Amino acid sequence: MTQRIDVKGSQRYPLFLGASIGELGGYLEERFGTRGHYLIITNTLVADYYADKLMGDLKQFRTELITVPDSEEEKSLNRISKLTEQALRCRADRDTMVLALGGGVIGDLAGFFASIFMRGIRYIHIPTTLLSQVDSSIGGKVAVNHPAGKNLLGAFYPPQAVWTDFSTLDTLPWDEIQNGLAETIKHALVSDPDLFDFIENHTGEIKCADREVMKELAIRSLSVKVKIVSEDEKEKGQRMLLNLGHSFGHALETDESYKGVTHGQGVSIGIVAAASLACSRGLITDMQLERIVNLLLKMELPITIEARDPQILLNYMAADKKNKAGSKVLVLPVGIGKSSVTSDCTDGEIIKAWEKVLK
Ligand SMILES: NC(=O)c1ccc[n+]([C@@H]2O[C@H](COP(=O)([O-])OP(=O)(O)OC[C@H]3O[C@@H](n4cnc5c(N)ncnc54)[C@H](O)[C@@H]3O)[C@@H](O)[C@H]2O)c1
Repeated sequence: MTQRIDVKGSQRYPLFLGASIGELGGYLEERFGTRGHYLIITNTLVADYYADKLMGDLKQFRTELITVPDSEEEKSLNRISKLTEQALRCRADRDTMVLALGGGVIGDLAGFFASIFMRGIRYIHIPTTLLSQVDSSIGGKVAVNHPAGKNLLGAFYPPQAVWTDFSTLDTLPWDEIQNGLAETIKHALVSDPDLFDFIENHTGEIKCADREVMKELAIRSLSVKVKIVSEDEKEKGQRMLLNLGHSFGHALETDESYKGVTHGQGVSIGIVAAASLACSRGLITDMQLERIVNLLLKMELPITIEARDPQILLNYMAADKKNKAGSKVLVLPVGIGKSSVTSDCTDGEIIKAWEKVLK
């Protein structure tokens, strides 16, 4: 059964959860009519798995498939320029709609392309990774990277809809599931203690990607994000909470030039650093810290990384675009299932937190 949840904000849009990629056509016809022009943007790997299924259901429309190489490096202005040429060759116009079929990279790239092509055309996310289903397809952030920083060029540009087919998780490798799991554990810590319990109680089923458990996990996790972004679309307040673990994690990703540490690994180690700092401030107990660490370990996520100079990591954190008036803005857990944004952590406290995760 397909479930529908609406994301509120400047533009309300539906998430269809448990939908089938092979049944999108009927929805498009009902909502947008029969004469649509659709540009499917995907990557080579996802196309092999799912393009035929999607295109087979869109025969009544004029539909074109554009595949890009499978790499984070494709989130670039260079690729946007190539997409523009390809879209024009396909006679795309202001009524063309983009279907972003893939994980967070394709969602960010195709969404950003849609946000600027001819001053903005409509798009729909069809997220195929756990991370994109629970996180990146929700909230309307689209972006490409720039040599000076990740996601530096972007926009808040909500989709028309998100069409989530959880059966795509069947083909997703474990290390990519783990990237999404780091975000689900973050969602649990930010505001859902019951989700934390659920993950603790279903580690076995999650590791063998049990369909029903994965679906429930994804829906509970994405519901946290839906609630937060519906109340704070433009990240002026509580949406900041979703950065738990990310300030530390991004510093590690930058230090490794986005190659040695995956986003999920960075977030996992970042959660441990933030939780250690919270523990030293008395915001969580030693036992709660241990619970967090144990859950990450059970999900085979890293909790430490090879030693390196914490001062360099601190410098990366100083360049975080979330910082305000020269102060580092951090999110710290407060117990399990609650968190708070703080900008009064000293560099000394942050370095101590780094030392807890540097081997
Ligand atoms: N916009 C946002 O709010 C937001 C939030 C979080 C992350 N992001 C962005 O998301 C990106 C990471 O997304 P991701 O983790 O989904 O990575 P990804 O899009 O690179 O996908 C990971 C890998 O899985 C493959 N894949 C995708 N679906 C598959 C499937 N069903 N079966 C088998 N393989 C499949 C991809 O081809 C790729 O190799 C980053 O660029 C990050 O900046 C954006």
